[in-house]
Amino acid sequence: MKITVIGTGYVGLVSGVCYAHLGNEVICVDKDVQKIATLKAGVIPIYEPGLKELADACMESGHLQYTTDLGEAIQEAEVVIIAVGTPPLPGGGADLQFVEAVAREIGANLNGYKVIVVKSTVPVGTNETVEEIIARHTIHAFDIASVPEFLREGTAVSDTLNPDRIVIGTKSDKAADRLSELHKPLTNQIVITDIRSAEMIKYASNAFLATKISFINEIANLCEKVGADVTEVAGGMGLDKRIGGSFLKAGIGYGGSCFPKDTKALIQIAGNVEYDFKLLKSVVEVNNHQRFGVIDKLYRALGSLQGKRIAIWGLAFKPDTDDVRESPAIEIVERLLELGAVPAVTDPIAMSNFRKLINHPSIQWSATALEAAQGADAVCLLTEWQDYIQVDLRKLEQVMARPILIDGRNAYSTKQLETGRFAYYPVGRPA
Ligand code: UGA
Repeated sequence: MKITVIGTGYVGLVSGVCYAHLGNEVICVDKDVQKIATLKAGVIPIYEPGLKELADACMESGHLQYTTDLGEAIQEAEVVIIAVGTPPLPGGGADLQFVEAVAREIGANLNGYKVIVVKSTVPVGTNETVEEIIARHTIHAFDIASVPEFLREGTAVSDTLNPDRIVIGTKSDKAADRLSELHKPLTNQIVITDIRSAEMIKYASNAFLATKISFINEIANLCEKVGADVTEVAGGMGLDKRIGGSFLKAGIGYGGSCFPKDTKALIQIAGNVEYDFKLLKSVVEVNNHQRFGVIDKLYRALGSLQGKRIAIWGLAFKPDTDDVRESPAIEIVERLLELGAVPAVTDPIAMSNFRKLINHPSIQWSATALEAAQGADAVCLLTEWQDYIQVDLRKLEQVMARPILIDGRNAYSTKQLETGRFAYYPVGRPA
C-alpha cells in the first residue's frame, strides 16, 4: 500500500518505518527541512532501540522515503496518516493547530479517494473537525479514521510490530477494510468501532495506566507507614488476572510526554462537557506529589540539605530514552537547588536534554554514576538504568561521604544491599 505519514516525531517516524518494514511504500513528510535532511542522511534524531537498523534497511530496499513536499506526498498516497504533535496548552487542553493546518493541506492536495488516518492523540470530536476541514478544501471523496497509537518510548519498534490490539474508528466500511488489510500482518486483534470511541480508547487507556501507577504509589506510601512491602503487595495483587501485574511498580511517579499530557487533557475534555472527573484529578495530584518523597527521605536522613552534595542518578523519565519531558527529576533537582543543596547529576544519554531545561551554576554535571557519587552525602536513584542497578555497591560506599541510598524505583535487591552498609530508603518497602 502507498502510505504517507505526516509528522516525523516519535509516533510518525516509528509508524512510518514499521509500515515500510511490512513492505508498504512509505513517504514520511515533515516541514522541518533540517530534520528531513538528517533523516535522508540516515541519522535518526530520537533514541529508540532498533529504529535505525530498520530505517536503513527500508531506505535501502526503496520502501521508505523522506520529503518536505507535503502536496506531492499526499497525491502519491492511498492512505494518509496524520501524526503531528498535539502539545499541551497552558490550561491542560491539547493544542490542535498543527492537526488543523495539516487537514487544510490534505484538502487542498487531494486528487482522488484516500483514507485519512488520525494517529495523533486528539480530543474526542477532533476527527470530525478534521473531516469538515478537509471537505471544505476538496471536491474529492475521502474517508476519515481514528487509529490511535499505543507504543511506548524505548520499546516503540517492538510495540508497533507486536501490538496488543489495533483500534480503527471509522464510519466507512471501505476505510475499515483498507486499514484492516494494512494492519493484518501485525495482529488479528483488530477493533473496529466508531470514531469517537476510538479517540476515547486512547485517552481512557493512558488514564487507566496512570491510575494504576498513582494507586500503587499511594499503597506504597501507606506500606511505609504500616510496615508492609509494596513489591510483595503488587506481586500478590497482580496474580489476579482481573488486576494484572503490569504498571504496578511504585516509585517517584510517572513522567514523559504522554501520561501527564493525556490525563490533563482528559480532565479538560470532561470539564468541557461539565463532567467533574474527580478520580483522574486525584491521580494527577498524587503523581505531582509523589516525586517529593525523595526530598522527604533526604531530610530524614540528613536534616538540612544546605551545602549537601546529592548525587542524582537518572534524569530521563524512564530508562532507555533520552526524553526528559515531565521527568520527575526536573522538580526534584529544582527543589534541591532551592534548598541550597549541590545536585551532582548524571544520566547515560539524557544529560544534554536536561541541561536545556535547567542549567544552574550549582549543578555538577557528572559523566558516570560513581563520579556523581564521589564525596556525596546521598545518592538518589531516579531512573532505573541497568548501569545504575548493576553498580558495584562496595565501590559506591567507598567513594561517598555518607552511605545513604535513596532508591526512587525500588531497583536494588536485599541481596545486593548486603554487600554494603547503606542507610537505604526505598519506596513503600522496609528500609
Ligand atoms: C505511554 C503508554 O504506556 C503507551 O501505551 C502510550 O502509547 C504512550 O504513553 C503514548 O501515549 O504515546 P510512555 O510514556 O512511552 O508510554 O512510557 P511508559 O513505559 O508507559 O512509562 C510512563 C511513565 O510511567 C514512566 O515515567 C515510568 O517510569 C512510569 N511507570 C510505569 C511507573 O512509575 N510504574 C509502572 O509500573 C510503570
